[in-house]
Amino acid sequence: MRTVDLIRRKRDGEELSGKEIAFLIDGYTQGVIPDYQMAAFLMAVFSNSMSEREVGTLTECMLHSGETIDLSSVPGVKVDKHSTGGVGDKTSLISAPLAAACGAIVPMISGRALGHTGGTLDKLESIPGFRTNLTVDEFREQLRMYGLAFMGQTAEVAPADAKLYALRDATATVESIPLIASSIMSKKLAEGLDSLVLDVKVGSGAFLKKQVEARRLAQIMVTIGRRADKRVQALITDMNQPLGFAVGNALEVMEVSQTLQNAGPTDLTRLSLELAARMIYLGRITMTLDDAREMATSKLLDGSGYRKFKEVIQAQGGNANVLDRFDLLPNATGVREITSPRNGYISGIDAECIGQASGLIGASRDTKEDTIDPAVGMILEVKVGQKIDQGAVLCRIYYTREDNLDGAAQLVEDAFRISSNPPEERELILEVVG
Ligand code: URA
Repeated sequence: MRTVDLIRRKRDGEELSGKEIAFLIDGYTQGVIPDYQMAAFLMAVFSNSMSEREVGTLTECMLHSGETIDLSSVPGVKVDKHSTGGVGDKTSLISAPLAAACGAIVPMISGRALGHTGGTLDKLESIPGFRTNLTVDEFREQLRMYGLAFMGQTAEVAPADAKLYALRDATATVESIPLIASSIMSKKLAEGLDSLVLDVKVGSGAFLKKQVEARRLAQIMVTIGRRADKRVQALITDMNQPLGFAVGNALEVMEVSQTLQNAGPTDLTRLSLELAARMIYLGRITMTLDDAREMATSKLLDGSGYRKFKEVIQAQGGNANVLDRFDLLPNATGVREITSPRNGYISGIDAECIGQASGLIGASRDTKEDTIDPAVGMILEVKVGQKIDQGAVLCRIYYTREDNLDGAAQLVEDAFRISSNPPEERELILEVVG
């Protein structure tokens, strides 16, 4: 078998066999197939997509490229939640503690920010002392003690994905349904979970811009999960504006704290509660989804989710007092206000522009080697649909360095669309798949 022949066949839209896909993934993971050939193959997949059978095989090969985590010694149904990536999306830090406070076991293996989207690990690491590099033994022990642990992907779990994802990021091949589905599901199936709630984002701030594409991605991931005997559901949710008001690591932790104390933005609270309810239901804590919704809401209102998050921060070496004292988090040194050029209604806030602007001032990375400035980001002062007067503040940019500030400010200005009539209301939760 020759790599070049497989690239050519995929370039010409042919379906590859299981053996051929295994040849490519094994060869690439072991360093036998070079980056330039894999990059060409990824671009061929990006252009011609893959059949469901091919995506299933690709996922299997990536899953078996490394070790799987054995959580069988931890009692209870293990349920995780994963988002395909968005801007201001801090729901994991809210729904996971809420689900754990209801008795679910949540082994959360999360990713870092890349491109214009944020990453749960970077948000957590903005909390002084917080350790995300737990060993698998520590991870298991913490799950036994608290029902919730956060950690990063280890080098042993789905190593093919780590290598492929870095290459995709550098070759403009991230936004591909078969590649996203196999990337997410290979990691999740390696985690030792029983159930999974997927949040498939769609819109300007998501990798997929059209609902029909998001639906196909959700259907493929749900099918892959079910074939592996997991209980999987996917929500398709709107990412045409940032979720909540805060974008940027420490700023998002502050918003998480407010939300867990029932003083957060409406959209963020609503989506976090729905995701938590589905985790609770798929985790078999309640018999019905309605009971799960009620339970999640009660744990928000009585502060159990908030206390659970504090407990877990402390268990992972972090300073849990940051949730009450925001001055203990990294804080920016400067603020620039972006104001409205006219009267009207906010008809759009381009989430990708906001994500890119946050990245420019240091909230995310261009390459995996870049470091993040945990203090910087944006706080939106308005959401889509709101009436606005000329000169009113649309957004505050929190920065520590002025290098790219003008560029970021321009992007933020461009992100806001103002119309003379109120825009049509858009649903946050668009569809449920599975
Ligand atoms: N998240 C992942 O883990 N992989 C992708 O390809 C996209 C989002």
